[in-house]
Amino acid sequence: MTQRIELVINDRCRTVEVASNTTLLEMLRDQLKFKSVKPGCWRGDCGLCLVLIDGRPIKSCLVLAQELDDREVVTVEGLLDNGNITRLHQSFIEKGALQCGYCTPAFLLASEALLRRNPHPTRERVCESMNGILCRCTGYKQIVDAILAASE
Ligand code: FES
Ligand code: FES
Repeated sequence: MTQRIELVINDRCRTVEVASNTTLLEMLRDQLKFKSVKPGCWRGDCGLCLVLIDGRPIKSCLVLAQELDDREVVTVEGLLDNGNITRLHQSFIEKGALQCGYCTPAFLLASEALLRRNPHPTRERVCESMNGILCRCTGYKQIVDAILAASE
């Protein structure tokens, strides 16, 4: 059974017809073509599908799309500032915090959520906040360094 939902994605109002078993991950990638939202495990383990829902980092494979009626979603595209990269993006580049880039949208979104709540987090706090997002390439140190540098 499908339902029409209205939500805001990256500051733009969208109306989407979604089936009752469609996850937010499937809606974003397959229906709306936000390919930056990455699938990995499809069961909440890898964190690669993370998006912001009403400002909070949430794994989109664990949420049914129909629950998003009247909510606000941000994907990594929504972090750009008038089409330009921000200090956080720049910091990831400068610190070498990405290699293949598959995990990068999730880390950028989780970092953004953390820095909005806590503009000057400790290293421990950054590590805690990135728990649950897997990176197979960088070893994590560069990612944590980039987030700390962006917070200075
Ligand atoms: S695909 Fe969602 S947590 Fe892995
Ligand atoms: S940069 Fe490749 S998985 Fe993180």
